[in-house]
Amino acid sequence: MEVVIVPDATAGGSLIADALAALVRRKPDALLGVATGSTPLPIYEALAAQVASGAVDASRVRVCQLDEYVGLPAGHPESYRSVVLREVVEPLGIDKGSFLGPDGSADDIPAACTAYDEALRAAGGVDLQILGIGTDGHIGFNEPCSSLASRTRIKTLTRQTREDNARFFDSLDEVPHHVITQGIGTILEARHLVLLATGAGKAHAVAQAVEGPVAAVVPASALQLHPHATVVVDEAAASELKLADYFRATYAAKPEWQGL
Ligand code: PGA
Repeated sequence: MEVVIVPDATAGGSLIADALAALVRRKPDALLGVATGSTPLPIYEALAAQVASGAVDASRVRVCQLDEYVGLPAGHPESYRSVVLREVVEPLGIDKGSFLGPDGSADDIPAACTAYDEALRAAGGVDLQILGIGTDGHIGFNEPCSSLASRTRIKTLTRQTREDNARFFDSLDEVPHHVITQGIGTILEARHLVLLATGAGKAHAVAQAVEGPVAAVVPASALQLHPHATVVVDEAAASELKLADYFRATYAAKPEWQGL
């Protein structure tokens, strides 16, 4: 994988937004896999600024969700469908009809999971999947010891993840226990994976994912199996990387035309 160390979250957001803009110019109807949480917001803000200035037209882009809570009522402001509509679809001027996501309020959750995996394939596969990383090393909501071959399915959140996400709810009790997440095998089918991690709280998980062995106990380490995975980290999130200087030198020596 390629590791890019940036000064801060804003720089990481701009760098990834530039890669997205280049993708959209190349393929106006690209299928963009979006992540929720706090980390990717600078990406969406930077891309929305490019759209607002007319530098890129995202109106034909298609968007798909990485994961979703199970059991939140339709339209709940913290359902990931609502978050993606608010943070990505509306600011980028994307057609709501071209927005794919798993149905977390379905009566038959396993069927909804299978249907979502099939919908992603029918849409031609994800061109670029944005990822965050959990403090426990998860990607999407694939918690530690998720199968590296897993498909979209229901998962139970760890207490650590529910505590991490409690800030979006009035109390920890309101954070759902169950989620639908693209599986690790599903995520690995995207043509380009771009993981953004910022802040010292992510440093340990990043070091394990990038420099540790590929292991289900650190789901993000599965990125090592992907032929085109980019990990963008700010200085704080890079602070436990033993190879940080090598990563800096490699990126500094990279020809500009190569992009992310
Ligand atoms: P965060 O979440 O960006 O809110 O830290 C990341 C994740 O859980 O994948």
